[in-house]
Amino acid sequence: MPLPMQILAIIYVLASLTFIAGLKMLAHPKTARRGNLIAATGMTLAILGTIFLFRYVEDGTWHSLRHLEWIFLALAVGTAIGWFLAMRVPMTAMPQMVSFFNGMGGACAALISIMELEHVPPAPGEYPYLTLGVAGILLSTLIGSVSFSGSIIAYGKLEGWISGKSIRLPAHQTINLLLLLGILGYGVWLMLQPAHITQWAWGMLALSLLYGVLFVLPIGGADMPVVISLLNSFTGTAAGIAGFAYNNMAMIIGGILVGSAGTLLTILMCRAMNRSLWNVIIGAFSGGAATDEGEKTVRTVSPEDAAIMLAYAQKVMFIPGYGLAVAQAQHTLHELEKLLRDRGVEVKYAIHPVAGRMPGHMNVLLAEADVPYDLLLELEQANNEFPSCDVAVVIGANDVVNPLAETDPSSPIAGMPILQVYKAQKVIVIKRSLSPGYAGIDNPLFYRENTYMLFDDARKALEKIVKAVQEV
Ligand code: TAP
Repeated sequence: MPLPMQILAIIYVLASLTFIAGLKMLAHPKTARRGNLIAATGMTLAILGTIFLFRYVEDGTWHSLRHLEWIFLALAVGTAIGWFLAMRVPMTAMPQMVSFFNGMGGACAALISIMELEHVPPAPGEYPYLTLGVAGILLSTLIGSVSFSGSIIAYGKLEGWISGKSIRLPAHQTINLLLLLGILGYGVWLMLQPAHITQWAWGMLALSLLYGVLFVLPIGGADMPVVISLLNSFTGTAAGIAGFAYNNMAMIIGGILVGSAGTLLTILMCRAMNRSLWNVIIGAFSGGAATDEGEKTVRTVSPEDAAIMLAYAQKVMFIPGYGLAVAQAQHTLHELEKLLRDRGVEVKYAIHPVAGRMPGHMNVLLAEADVPYDLLLELEQANNEFPSCDVAVVIGANDVVNPLAETDPSSPIAGMPILQVYKAQKVIVIKRSLSPGYAGIDNPLFYRENTYMLFDDARKALEKIVKAVQEV
């Protein structure tokens, strides 16, 4: 093996190490940014190393890569688009951004695989393409294409271009199953051909794209983060398999890391919502009807009275939810927290693992507002502390504080661990109306005797409370 290829092998090992270290550092907000940079540096090194050091054999001699101008043009265009999109994306649109990038990864894996088919040397014997290598390439084409078209549909649903409701054909799941079996059969047929199969492989790619669309359409818009995480694991798997086809270690390790991280995240999200992955995939949770509010009464509170409750409390817990993200109220919330702490009030934040619409949503928002990490409590810790809280302030959260999860076994959220805010002395809930949240169900918390509703946009309400606390 020529020296440049030996150096490249070392670069791939280094790049793989940066992926592992980066992934580990992403687990904590304090180190996440650095982890991202480290992994990106490793990836840049692997890309540049491949461009300049990769050698291949043709006519018995080693050659370096040709058409570098095209490669650099593609790199420049991709970098410019990625940079532009990443700089202007609002925090609330992050899930669709991730979905878009993931779709691009899937498309790459599928296209790389199909191109590689041309270069597979036929094996001796009656079936020259019935080899593990071709099977891997076709599998990567299938998974990458599903990931691409599925991610684009997820993007469309989250952007509101496609209805967020479950869209399904009659006998949708049966059609999906038959289509998947058909694609697998098509792949086997391709492998049994005696001659070139490349042009027919495009048919498999087209069918796989269709499958990706039909796979995601029945899933409700609010379940998209779970689907995106699942598709992310598909992309990783496709890239890993393509790495085998190329015998490229960095691709194999990177693919395995993305594939397993995506799978674990999917499982964790489903567990935190107390739902099975199958339940998500068949779109069985696209929102039930809100129960009739009937004669139930709610107590309301003005921002000024809420400010007095908070200013004279000893211990206050903030519970942020999806509405905080919608209202972009994290900075005002932090301002209120600082004001109260300056007055000697003990203030903490209770973070539910699936509050908001993407994993770590609340952590990201609060980190953006520079809320100190040590004020953030996880579910169990927070539940231990609610009984000693004078006031719990729920800001744009609903399902994650809904006691029905504990009391009504027929509820769609039955069994989901919740933040037990009802155990606090007093509860203030800031939201615009009595409308349900993501699960589409009423929340008995709003009608409890120790709950006070403050009906307003979260940011406006918090701004009024801040002003009133300053005047107390
Ligand atoms: P939700 O239960 O969805 O409730 C959010 C509430 O925010 C709504 O009831 C809404 O009420 C209020 N709201 C919206 N805009 C607002 C604004 N501008 N100002 C004030 N309030 C506003 O949120 P949650 O408690 O965070 O629970 C998250 C839900 O999403 C869970 O069911 C979870 O399973 C699901 N989910 C989470 C994830 C991840 S990974 N986080 C992924 C998929 C699904 P009004 O309209 O009355 O204001």
